[in-house]
Amino acid sequence: MERIVSNEEFDFESENQKSLRPKRLVEYIGQESLKEKMSIFIEAAKRRGGCIDHVLLYGPPGLGKTTLAGVIATEMEVNFKVTSGPILDKAGDLAAILTSLEENDILFIDEIHRLNTSVEEILYPAMEDGELDIIIGKGPSARSIRIELPSFTLIGATTRAGLLSSPLRDRFGVVHRMDYYNEVELEGIVKRGGAVLGVKVEDDGAKEIALRSRGTPRIANRLLKRVRDYSEIKGNGIINREVAVKALKILGVDEQGLDELDRDIIVSIIENYGGGPVGVETLALMLGEDRRTIEEVYEPYLVKIGYIKRTSRGRMVTEKAYSHFQVKE
Ligand code: ADE
Repeated sequence: MERIVSNEEFDFESENQKSLRPKRLVEYIGQESLKEKMSIFIEAAKRRGGCIDHVLLYGPPGLGKTTLAGVIATEMEVNFKVTSGPILDKAGDLAAILTSLEENDILFIDEIHRLNTSVEEILYPAMEDGELDIIIGKGPSARSIRIELPSFTLIGATTRAGLLSSPLRDRFGVVHRMDYYNEVELEGIVKRGGAVLGVKVEDDGAKEIALRSRGTPRIANRLLKRVRDYSEIKGNGIINREVAVKALKILGVDEQGLDELDRDIIVSIIENYGGGPVGVETLALMLGEDRRTIEEVYEPYLVKIGYIKRTSRGRMVTEKAYSHFQVKE
């Protein structure tokens, strides 16, 4: 099976991270309802000798959208091609990828909400009728040609489903929102990661890392690796609760999994805006951070744990956040 990353600039994480990704559905922990649905679609498609319908996965970053797409490709025994919205600059970029697909391949487009309109328009007939309409030449001599494509599955991933145009959204047969993982699932992911990396992780160590992973497997695996480094240098290489607590303190990750930027977001809303409301643009400027990072990476978890409320007038800090950060109202 061929795995292609269509652009070297695409941030597909390190080899190390890749090896922690599960390859098969049975190894994939959590997202039970999605796994159940997908295993039925995979089985049905395989029996028919066809491919599964187009799938849209949305939800916060790091929850395993790319990983799941890769798992589906493995289970289907087809090629897996990966690209992303922002790097598909011109219609021709996508046309080149589509024409290189083989029967039943899976094309994964990350950050699909960031496709530009001309690229998106190529996708519509490709998804719906398996045809590619391209215009050759310019001005009066321009001609439109139609190319038949092999059947394929598009798996789109986005952190911002609301930004997807409705014609694009409507062309997906399966639309699923991925949710944060619970602590038991994350504990399982940490233990699995430990086994893959060849480090001994005791139950209380896995639990401590899980508790501080913001419901996110990518963070769980990242913290696991940093705690492993710490335990190899300062301990005996075994990860238990004590080692995890010490390592995570050095990393600036608190008991809730919040880091410096979370703290800065909350404290600056409190100190500069009396707890809010404040617009995300102002917040981004004040913190010198990218607006998208705040909106797509940090805010969803702060909202989930009830530290920030989104209102029509902007973001507001809740009482829970005041007491966590020990700031007086
Ligand atoms: N690594 C990243 N996501 C995972 C998941 N859902 N299950 C197991 N390992 C993972």
